[in-house]
Formats: sequence, C-alpha cells, structure tokens
Amino acid sequence: MTANLILTVKSSVIIPIAAAGILVATTSLAYWIYQRSFVPLHGHDAHAEVAPYIPAKTHEVHLHPNAETPAVSTDLKNFKGQPVELSCANCHSTKTPNRELVDGTDLKDFHQGLTVVHGERSCLSCHDSENYDNLHLADGTSIPFSDTKRLCAQCHGPQHRDYEHGSHGGMTGYWDLSRGPRVRNTCTVCHDPHAPAYPQVMPAPFGAREPAPKHH
Ligand code: HEC
Ligand code: HEC
Ligand code: HEC
Ligand code: HEC
Repeated sequence: MTANLILTVKSSVIIPIAAAGILVATTSLAYWIYQRSFVPLHGHDAHAEVAPYIPAKTHEVHLHPNAETPAVSTDLKNFKGQPVELSCANCHSTKTPNRELVDGTDLKDFHQGLTVVHGERSCLSCHDSENYDNLHLADGTSIPFSDTKRLCAQCHGPQHRDYEHGSHGGMTGYWDLSRGPRVRNTCTVCHDPHAPAYPQVMPAPFGAREPAPKHH
C-alpha cells in the first residue's frame, strides 16, 4: 500500500520532468539547426542565393612599436664582446619589493635619476611586484610591456576611447581596412609613462591669434 503510493508519487513527478527535459532539448536542437542555416546568407538579400557571400578582405591594425620588456644595460661585455643587459627580474626576483616608493628621487641605491611625475602613483601600481619583467592591472592581472596600452586605458578611459575612435594617438596607413593595413602608435610612443604630461606648447606670438580686422 505505502510502496504503491510512493511509486505513484514518484512517477507523477518524474514523468512531467522528463517530458519537459525532452521538450527543451528538441527545441534547442531545432533552434541551433535553424540558426546555422542562416549564417551563409547573413546580411544579404535574396540575390545572395545566386552570388555566394564573400566577406570583404580586411587588413590588420598593427601596433607600433611592439614594445619589448625593458632591460638595464651594464658596462660589462660578454665573451663575444657584446654589452651585457640585465633583465628586471634578474635583481628583483631576490629583492623585497618596496611598495611605498612613489618618488624617483628617493632611489638611492639604483635607478638614480628616474623622474616620476604621474599623479600619486606608487611604482608598484604599474610594475608587477611578483614579476618585474611585467606590469599589472588594478585587478592584479599581470601583463607584458607589449600590452602597456591596457594599463593606460584602465585609468584614462576617455583618451583611450578617443584613441580607439582615431581622434587621439595618430595613425598611418588606411582608415578603410578593406584597402590596406593601418599602423597605430602605442601610448608610450608619445607619453613617457613616468612623466606623461605633454610639455606646455609655447604660446603663439602676441597678435598671431588676433581675429582678422573687421570691415566697418
Ligand atoms: C642591477 C640590479 C637591478 C636591475 C637589473 C633592476 N633593478 Fe630595479 N631596483 C634595484 C634596486 C637595488 C632598487 C632599490 C633602489 C633604492 O631603493 O634605492 C630597485 C628599485 C626598483 C623599483 C622601486 C620599487 C622597489 O621594489 O624597490 C622598481 C619599480 C624597479 N626597481 C623596477 C625595475 C625595472 C622595471 C627593471 C628593468 C628595466 C629593474 N628595476 C631592473 C635593482 C635593480
Ligand atoms: C603609470 C605606470 C608606471 C609607474 C607609476 C611607474 N612606472 Fe616604471 N615603467 C612603466 C612603463 C609602462 C615602462 C616601460 C617604458 C617603455 O615602454 O619605454 C616603465 C619602465 C621602467 C623602467 C625601465 C626603463 C627606464 O625608464 O629606465 C624602470 C627602471 C622603471 N620603470 C622603474 C620605475 C620606478 C622606480 C618607479 C617609481 C619611482 C616607476 N617605474 C613607476 C610604468 C610605470
Ligand atoms: C592607476 C591609474 C593610472 C595609470 C595606470 C596611468 N595613469 Fe596617467 N594619470 C593618472 C592620474 C591620476 C593623472 C593625473 C596626474 C596629475 O593631475 O598630476 C594622470 C596623468 C596623465 C597624463 C597627463 C594629464 C595632464 O594633462 O596632466 C597623461 C598624458 C597620462 N596620465 C598618460 C598615461 C599613460 C600613457 C599611461 C600608461 C603608460 C598612464 N597614464 C597610466 C592615473 C593613471
Ligand atoms: C601620437 C602621439 C600620441 C599618442 C600615441 C597618444 N597620445 Fe595622449 N596626448 C598626445 C598629445 C599631443 C597630448 C596633448 C594634447 C593637448 O595638450 O591638447 C596628449 C594628451 C593626453 C592626455 C592628457 C589629457 C588630454 O586630453 O589633454 C592623456 C591622459 C593621454 N594623452 C592619454 C593617452 C593614452 C591613454 C594613449 C594610448 C591609448 C595616448 N594618450 C596616446 C599625444 C599622443
């Protein structure tokens, strides 16, 4: 009696759930097939059935230069007589990071003469204390120096947006990427990340900006 009841309850629950499951699965499959059947015709009218859709050839946007990880040059020469360069991690992987350092003039043991005038940013708000051969974003993501633009973009949204729209940062090549490639500059081509402000442009000599004389 009790067993019978449990069985009835079980099947009255399981059967609708199974039915719903089958319905969802078949609907998803049907929709997937339906969508796929439209891909080749996307964005075209009925004539597309005659002329197959060939996407416009799109050229690439190159970032110039593809910045490399900086290194520190030394006076030493290797056995081939080439100058020896030390990677940042060379010294820093064994050195305790100094998170407080903001001002380059506080550097007494190394990197003397480095001027940092960039808000109140500590060195390690940009340099990755886990790996000095990298930079890092605010959320801790480590990024290579070749990705510096992402670092700048997270604090300078408006300029980065203007850059993406082409009104900041300059470019050479083709605006119309179907005609040819385009070359963009990285932010650090023009801005020193340690002192990024542009030097004040000398004002034009007095008179040059005067409006043209009005006719009476
Ligand atoms: C020859 C060893 C050496 C090399 C190579 C070196 N550093 Fe340093 N770095 C130091 C020393 C020593 C200090 C501390 C100087 C002080 O506080 O007076 C320092 C300080 C710093 C600081 C300040 C924060 C901290 O942890 O002290 C940063 C940022 C930094 N270095 C970045 C770099 C980067 C980027 C490179 C690669 C381009 C590099 N360093 C290469 C020795 C080195
Ligand atoms: C706003 C981000 C930012 C801050 C803050 C910053 N750096 Fe850098 N640093 C960079 C970037 C980006 C580069 C790579 C420069 C390039 O591509 O030419 C760099 C390069 C370096 C280098 C190697 C090249 C060079 O200029 O000698 C050293 C050393 C260095 N930083 C040390 C420091 C120290 C020390 C501080 C703090 C006193 C500091 N940085 C603060 C972003 C920053
Ligand atoms: C963590 C945030 C942060 C990052 C990362 C950062 N900046 Fe800045 N930047 C600032 C702040 C804050 C100021 C304002 C400094 C001031 O008013 O003195 C500033 C100032 C500037 C200025 C000068 C604006 C002016 O008119 O004085 C330029 C240019 C600039 N940053 C470019 C860059 C570039 C290029 C990078 C990437 C290498 C970068 N910034 C990375 C926060 C940041
Ligand atoms: C081709 C050179 C060039 C490149 C590349 C470039 N900038 Fe600039 N940027 C300038 C000049 C020039 C100014 C000064 C504009 C002015 O004074 O009106 C400036 C000004 C700024 C300022 C100060 C605020 C302002 O609008 O005056 C910020 C912040 C800035 N740039 C961020 C960036 C970032 C972020 C990138 C990369 C995405 C970048 N710039 C790439 C040339 C450049």
